[in-house]
Amino acid sequence: MSACFIITGTDTGIGKTIFAAALAQAVGAAYWKPVQAGLDRETDTQIVARLTGHASGLFIPEAYRLTLPASPHAAAAHENISIDPEKLKLPCIEGSLIVEGAGGVLVPLKRDLAFADVFARWNKPVVLCARTALGTINHTLLSLEALRFRNVPVHGVVFIGDEESETIATIAKIGRIKVLGRLPFLAQVNGELLSQAFSNHFSITDFERA
Ligand SMILES: Nc1ncnc2c1ncn2[C@@H]1O[C@H](COP(=O)(O)OP(=O)(O)OP(=O)(O)O)[C@@H](O)[C@H]1O
Ligand SMILES: [Mg+2]
Repeated sequence: MSACFIITGTDTGIGKTIFAAALAQAVGAAYWKPVQAGLDRETDTQIVARLTGHASGLFIPEAYRLTLPASPHAAAAHENISIDPEKLKLPCIEGSLIVEGAGGVLVPLKRDLAFADVFARWNKPVVLCARTALGTINHTLLSLEALRFRNVPVHGVVFIGDEESETIATIAKIGRIKVLGRLPFLAQVNGELLSQAFSNHFSITDFERA
C-alpha cells in the first residue's frame, strides 16, 4: 500500500533530512525536496540518496534549486524569481513518497505564501520533527497550532536527540498529538546505523499507509 508523508520541522538544521532518509529507506519510498535553498554543499536529495542507497529513479528533481542558503523567498528573490505554487504540485508516482519542506512550518516561499499553506493544499499527513533539547516544547506546540490553524492533517511528532521523557510527554499531552518515536543522535550517520535506529525506535506500521 503506498503512502505519502510530508516531513517538516520546528526549525532548520534539526534532522528532517536524516529522518526523511530513515523513513524513505524503511518504506522504500521516493523522495522529493521541492525547494532546495543552498547549493554550496551536499543537497538534501544527495544526502537521502547517499543514506538510502536508493536508485536515482526514486528521487524527484527539485522544483526550485536556489543558490543562496537562505529562506526560500529570499533565496528566490536573490535570483529575481518568485516561487510559483503551481510548480509545487505533488508528483503522481507509483509507490510511496516522502516530501521534505524547507526550514520550519511558517518559512515563507514568497511574501504571501508560507510552506504550511502549501501543505494545506497538498492535504497529506505531515510529520513534525522536533529537537528534544531545551526550547522544544514552545517551538513544537507553536508549530502544531500553525498547522492546525490551516487544517493541515498532522500525523504525529518525531523527536530527534537525547531522551527527554518529560518534554516528550508534555508535548504529547498539551499538543494532543501522537509521538511517532525518537531518533537518537548517532555517533556516525550512515545508512546501516540509521536503518537500525529507525527499526529500534519507530513502528513501521505507523507509516504504512496514508
Ligand atoms: N539523528 C542524528 N544523529 C546524528 N546527527 C544528526 C542526526 N540528525 C541530524 N543530524 C545532523 O544534524 C545536521 C542537520 O540535519 P539535517 O540536515 O537532517 O537537518 P534539516 O532539518 O533537514 O535541515 P534543513 O532545514 O536545512 O533541511 C546534519 O549535519 C546531520 O547529519
Ligand atoms: Mg533538510
